[in-house]
Amino acid sequence: MTNVKGDRIRLAAVQVLLAVAAGQTLDDAMAELDLAGGDRAIAQWLAFGALREALLLERLSSPLLQKPWRRRDADVQALLHLALFELRHGQRPAFAVVNDWVEMTAVIHKAWARGLMNAVLRRYLREREALEGRLRADDLDLGHPAWLAERLRAAYPRQWPEIAAANNAEAPLWLRINRRRVTVAAYQEALAARGLQAEAVDWDAGALLLRASVPVTELPGWREGWVSVQDGAAQQAALILAPRAGERILDACAAPGGKTAHLLEAGADHLLALDRSAVRLQRVAETLQRLDLHGADLRAADAAEPRRWWDGQPFDAILLDAPCTGTGVIRRHPDIRLRRQPTDVEQAVEEQRRLLEALWPCLKVGGRLLYATCSVLPEENAQQIAGFLGRHEDAQRQEHPLTGQRLPGAGDMDGFYYALLEKRP
Ligand SMILES: C[S@@+](CC[C@H](N)C(=O)[O-])C[C@H]1O[C@@H](n2cnc3c(N)ncnc32)[C@H](O)[C@@H]1O
Repeated sequence: MTNVKGDRIRLAAVQVLLAVAAGQTLDDAMAELDLAGGDRAIAQWLAFGALREALLLERLSSPLLQKPWRRRDADVQALLHLALFELRHGQRPAFAVVNDWVEMTAVIHKAWARGLMNAVLRRYLREREALEGRLRADDLDLGHPAWLAERLRAAYPRQWPEIAAANNAEAPLWLRINRRRVTVAAYQEALAARGLQAEAVDWDAGALLLRASVPVTELPGWREGWVSVQDGAAQQAALILAPRAGERILDACAAPGGKTAHLLEAGADHLLALDRSAVRLQRVAETLQRLDLHGADLRAADAAEPRRWWDGQPFDAILLDAPCTGTGVIRRHPDIRLRRQPTDVEQAVEEQRRLLEALWPCLKVGGRLLYATCSVLPEENAQQIAGFLGRHEDAQRQEHPLTGQRLPGAGDMDGFYYALLEKRP
């Protein structure tokens, strides 16, 4: 890698960290980068890693700094975090890592920080063992903000260390094969031809687990719509709802459309996909076009206000993939742990309750509603559904082997919650 090219990648990673600090989501910040292929993959590895370890890196570096950071030097702090992340996990020789990140002070026009970067990184290398040992001993919250660690520990006292470890690890790539276009065996062969091994799973014939990291657009048949990227846990929604041709199906919170597409691949042919965000709904349209899937009507609307979008004809099945805290997908969205606040939990619980109450009357008697979140907090999941069942005598929980709370990392999947409810007479 030439230095000009390397600097461009490093600068991109800095920009992503600054955008996230300013409130942008990591996905949106990554989407704005003008990088492709391997360069994008390196910038992504750096930015995701430094965000995943942001709290640890802060703890690790604070004894090496003489004063706290000034707000306007967030860019130097980003450089330091990225450098430390690369020193901790990268393959390049330490001297090259230190040199390159020190040189970046000139690229961001903060030449004064050259000495500081140099001193801190070299001291880290000299005292590495002691510093890392102290970090392991002191970090009781395992790289999570205190409030979130406390809630997760309270909800899962036994499983907390595994949850934290899963949140702190890189997520594998899950593929969903569009079996309308290609067989799984043929797709595995196409992957093998590129030296990629994908594992099948025992709960579904169309899901494959790929441990290598590959830019999605370089997956075989991506443009032809043979394959989608979707975590294994998210792929279970369509399996549980099991749509049939001719059924009227509502996907109430559809964007960006992973589950909408899966429902159509699985046999749905009469589907209304709603999302309150018109911008995000555009991504559903693009996905359906890429996969050449038909039978969905897309509408930007508040799903909790059916009088604005419902023609009064009850649905056979409803998927409510509710907005949530995303505490089950921290490993894929490391910015979540930095952005979430305790008040977000109450807000999510209230919005989920509002959606459940508003959508239940739209379901026909004998119909089914699948409630889903990518959260692991009981307030949004088991407690939310227990409250709903207590308020609605005509709602009954249906047992299904894939429903309940799944914790992050279990089966190499994201944390997810599913409850399948049936409407009784
Ligand atoms: C968890 S995401 C859905 C993911 C999607 N089902 C998929 O598989 O790709 C939640 C979505 O709900 C949307 N949303 C939030 N509140 C809503 C509401 N009141 N009505 C409709 N959509 C809403 C958000 O814009 C967001 O796109």
